[in-house]
Amino acid sequence: MTTVYIPTPLRRTTGGQSKVEAAGRSMRALLDALERTYPGIRQQLCDETGEVRSFINIFVNGTEIRQLEGLSTPVQDGDEVSIIPAMAGGRGKSVARKVKSPASRRVRRAVPAPRLSRAGMPATPEEVYDTVLEVIGRTPLVRLHKVTRGIRADLVAKLEYLNPGGSVKDRIGPAMIEDAERRGLLRPGGTIVEATSGNTGVGVAIAAAVRGYRTIFVMPDKMSEEKIRLLRAFGARVIITPTAVAPEDPRSYYNVSRRIAEETPNSFYANQYANPANPHAHYDSTGPEIWRQTGGRLDVVVASMGTGGTISGAGKFLKERHPGLRVIGVDPVGSVFYDYFKTGTMPEPHTYKVEGIGEDFLPKTMDFSVLDDVVQVSDRDAFLTTRRLVREEGLFCGGSGGAAVAGALKYARTLPEMGAGLRMVVILPDSGSRYLSKIFSDDWMREHGMLERELGTVGDLVRSRTIPLVTATRTDAVNEVVAKMKQYDVSQLPVLEDGRLVGMISEVDLLTHLLDGSHRPSDPIQPIIDPAPPVVDPDSPLDVLADIFLSSNAAVVVDHGAVAGIVTKIDVIDHLAKQLGR
Ligand SMILES: Cc1ncc(COP(=O)(O)O)c(C=O)c1O
Repeated sequence: MTTVYIPTPLRRTTGGQSKVEAAGRSMRALLDALERTYPGIRQQLCDETGEVRSFINIFVNGTEIRQLEGLSTPVQDGDEVSIIPAMAGGRGKSVARKVKSPASRRVRRAVPAPRLSRAGMPATPEEVYDTVLEVIGRTPLVRLHKVTRGIRADLVAKLEYLNPGGSVKDRIGPAMIEDAERRGLLRPGGTIVEATSGNTGVGVAIAAAVRGYRTIFVMPDKMSEEKIRLLRAFGARVIITPTAVAPEDPRSYYNVSRRIAEETPNSFYANQYANPANPHAHYDSTGPEIWRQTGGRLDVVVASMGTGGTISGAGKFLKERHPGLRVIGVDPVGSVFYDYFKTGTMPEPHTYKVEGIGEDFLPKTMDFSVLDDVVQVSDRDAFLTTRRLVREEGLFCGGSGGAAVAGALKYARTLPEMGAGLRMVVILPDSGSRYLSKIFSDDWMREHGMLERELGTVGDLVRSRTIPLVTATRTDAVNEVVAKMKQYDVSQLPVLEDGRLVGMISEVDLLTHLLDGSHRPSDPIQPIIDPAPPVVDPDSPLDVLADIFLSSNAAVVVDHGAVAGIVTKIDVIDHLAKQLGR
C-alpha cells in the first residue's frame, strides 16, 4: 500500500482524513484507486483532459511528479505520496505539464541540456505560471556559515522573503481569501479588511488584485514608512492607529479594523489573529515543504511568533511526521508569549522595535501545545543579527528573521556540545527592503541605542593581548600542566593534537583530580580534559561570550580550524574596562 497525504482543502472528499492508503503501480493507477474509494478526488486534482491541475503538486517520496514521469511515475508499496496545492487556488486556467515548478527550476543543473525540436526550439516545457499566486511558496533552504561560528548545529534558513510579495504572509493571504469564498463570506466585488503590520497586507493585496477585491488595511504607527507605501502601491486604503494603546482600547488596530469591517458593506474581515485558515496555510504548505526539502532530516524548527500561524501550522505538520522534533518559538523582550509559555501568566507588555512579531495578547491562532520552548531576544540582538545575516551571509532579511536566528543561536548554545549533530531550520519571514530606513540605517540604530556600544569582536580581544598562546597535549603529565599554568599565570589551556583542538584542561579539573587522592602528579591529563569546550569564532561579536559564560568559564577561539586563543570572563572584563575607560 502507498500512503497518500491529503491537504486540508481536499479532505472533504476523504471524510476529513489527512492520510489515506491506496494501491496502484503508477500515479495514474493510484489516482484511479483513490477515485474509487473517495469519489470526486480526481476532479480536484486533474482537469478535464486528465492532466494534473497547474496549482496541484504531487510528490512521490519528495520529488514532484513533473520532474519524474508525470502520472506515469511508478509507485510501490511503502512509497509516500504528498499532495500539495500551491497557495493560489483553483480558478486559474490549467497549464499543467507546460509549467515547471520553481523547485524544478532550482535543480535545473541536474537536468540534461534541452533537446531541440525540428524547428530549433527547445523541447523543454515552458516556465509560465497562470497567475502570480502560483509562484507563492517552495522557498529555498540555505545553510548559514558565518553567524553560526562556535555553534555546532547545522543551521539552515528558509528564505520566506523570496515569496513574490516578499514575505511568509503571501502564503496566508490567498488561503484566507479562498476559505472565505468557499464559506460564502466573500462575494464578487467585495472588500477585504485586515489589521496588519504590513506583510499580511501584501499577501492579501496580491490575492485581492488577482481575484478583483478592494482592500482596507489598518496598521499601527510604529510600522515603517516603506510598508505603508507598499500597501498603497497595491491600491489599498491604509489607516494608521496608535501603537501605545491597549488592545481593548477603541483606537487599537484590532478594534479599528473590526469596526471598519462592520461599517463597510459586502466586506470580509480576514482577522489573521483568529482565522484558522492562517495556521492551516502553513500546515498545508510551509510544513510539508520543510519536510520534503530536508528529506525529513531535521531536529529543531525555530520561528519568531506574531499571530503564531507559521509556527503552529508548520510545527504541527512536522511534529505529526517527526514526533521527536523540537519546535522553538522566538519572542521579543516586551511581548507576552515568553512569560505566558514559561509561567502560564500574562506579564505587563512593553513596547519594542522589532516588527511583525510578539504580541500584547494571546492570538487564537497561536497553539502553545506545539511549542517545546520559547527563547527571548532583545531588539538589539535581533537587529545586530539581521545586519550580520545580510553582510556576512548575503541573506537580505528583516528584523524578525534576525530575531529568529539570534534565538536559534541562543537555543543552540544551551544544547550539549553546542548542538553537534543536529539540524535546525530557521524561518526568515520577510525582506530587508522593508527596513532600509531603520535596521540598515546606522543613524537610526544609533538613535535607538543599538549601535552605541561597538564593543568589537572576540578577535579584537585576542589580538589586544600580549600573552602567548599556551597549550597542552593529552599525554602531558598533571604536574607539567600545573607548572605551565603557574609560569604563564593562566587557569585553562586548550589541549591540541596535530594542531587540532581536542579539549580543554582547567585548574578546577586538576584540583579535583589531585584532591581525589587516587591519582599521581605524573599521570597524563588525558582522562580529565573537557573534550567539548565551547568554541567561538574570532569574528563573533563580544556579546556572544555572555551566553557561553553562563555555563563555562572559558571559550576557545578557533580561526578556520586553528586555535587562536582562549578567553575567560576576566579577559573580557579587562578588555571592556580598557575600552570603556578610553
Ligand atoms: C515580519 C514578520 N515576521 C514574522 C511574523 C510572524 O509570523 P506569524 O504571524 O505566522 O507568527 C510576521 C507576522 O506578521 C511578520 O510580519
